[in-house]
Amino acid sequence: MQERTLAIIKPDAFSRNLVGSIIAMAEEKQLSMVSGKVFHLTRQQVESFYSVHRDKSFFESLTRFMTEGPIFVMVLGGEEAISLWRKIMGATDPGQAEEGTIRQRFGESIERNSVHGSDDPETARFEIGFFFNALEVVEESNAD
Ligand code: CDP
Ligand code: MG
Repeated sequence: MQERTLAIIKPDAFSRNLVGSIIAMAEEKQLSMVSGKVFHLTRQQVESFYSVHRDKSFFESLTRFMTEGPIFVMVLGGEEAISLWRKIMGATDPGQAEEGTIRQRFGESIERNSVHGSDDPETARFEIGFFFNALEVVEESNAD
């Protein structure tokens, strides 16, 4: 099924100029860019985006990390885009991530793990709407 997912290149990867390499890894697996822009989020914006994690022990630290510098946020489209992007990212902990995944190659720690991806269709809808309005997400593209 054709899907769209929200992907983020986090501050640790953005600051090491890995945006192009990470987009290339998505495109190699037939995911296409539907929308994309650079943000530098405020603390409130990160708290709201990651509100499902607000009771976790890592929330405070995660918020600090995600506000430390710019990020690249994109919508990726393609066949089974949600699970495919999570597969390309690899496990949350780079130490557990499979060979050749983004997190295995570029992740610095379980927190500074270079990328984000939506985990299901409902989350994807919420996360895409969080960053992009209808005009910014193309209706039809070669991603569909
Ligand atoms: O990003 P993913 O869906 O793989 O993991 P998550 O469980 O939804 O956690 C969101 C983010 O919180 C992770 O990507 C890490 O940046 C961070 N995290 C952390 O710092 N320490 C943990 N034990 C788990 C997650
Ligand atoms: Mg998650």
